[in-house]
Amino acid sequence: MSQLQFSNVGKQFNGNVWAVKDFNLNIANGEFVSFLGPSGCGKTTTLRMIAGLEENTHGVIQFDSDIVSDPQNRKFLPPEKRNVGMMFQSYAVWPHMNVFENVAYPLKFQKLDKSAVQTEVQKVLKTVELDGLENRKPNELSGGQQQRVALARGLVMKPRILLLDEPLSNLDAKLREKMRRDIRDIQKKLKLTLVYVTHDQKEAFQMSDRVVVMNKGQIEQVGTPLEIQSSPKTAFVKDFVEIGQL
Ligand SMILES: Nc1ncnc2c1ncn2[C@@H]1O[C@H](COP(=O)(O)OP(=O)(O)OP(=O)(O)O)[C@@H](O)[C@H]1O
Ligand SMILES: [Mg+2]
Repeated sequence: MSQLQFSNVGKQFNGNVWAVKDFNLNIANGEFVSFLGPSGCGKTTTLRMIAGLEENTHGVIQFDSDIVSDPQNRKFLPPEKRNVGMMFQSYAVWPHMNVFENVAYPLKFQKLDKSAVQTEVQKVLKTVELDGLENRKPNELSGGQQQRVALARGLVMKPRILLLDEPLSNLDAKLREKMRRDIRDIQKKLKLTLVYVTHDQKEAFQMSDRVVVMNKGQIEQVGTPLEIQSSPKTAFVKDFVEIGQL
């Protein structure tokens, strides 16, 4: 598992709009960090830059001692070489594939024989408590089970970093609560470095080691949930926290 480092990272779309600006942050091995902020503040763009699906236009992104993106020096490691797992809110699972095939899919790009694929998939299905459901299609699963298929798919290639972008927003409140605990337990058990995107502050404060509050592409404050809640450093964070407590 690896450390993630942003140094003055920025993303300008079409040469003018700053989606993310002056982003400086270090994430430790095994840390659970949430990006929290209103719609359009740059959360997804930042995740996509970590994965290599979006190229930062400024600054440097580093995994451990490896520079994965440094546009000024024309360095860019493509997504398939970053070993980053992802789970997004939409299009989480493929409807035409059963559970096993969905989870095995990312391993297609690695040269593993059939029995190794079988072993890896079974291991990860056990972790997310879906063993026994290998042959079900997504429409034969509950919403929470489908989300766990997507999670298993993100975990199967043993990513150095796992990125989750609002993964629970389709679920009802009770299931969301259970999945929050499940994700946190799995993250701790596997000692995963995990970056979690949400605009739900309850979720961020409940799950994270540290929370990054973002606004208009920039970091307002980084701290533990307690630090952010008890001593907000800017007017924006203060307002944001107060509104959430109503
Ligand atoms: N491909 C693009 N071209 C131009 N602007 C973009 C593009 N993608 C995102 N943006 C802009 O960058 C800003 C950040 O978008 P981003 O998707 O990162 O926000 P977000 O924090 O994930 O919001 P949400 O909570 O609504 O998902 C927004 O103003 C958005 O309109
Ligand atoms: Mg988003």
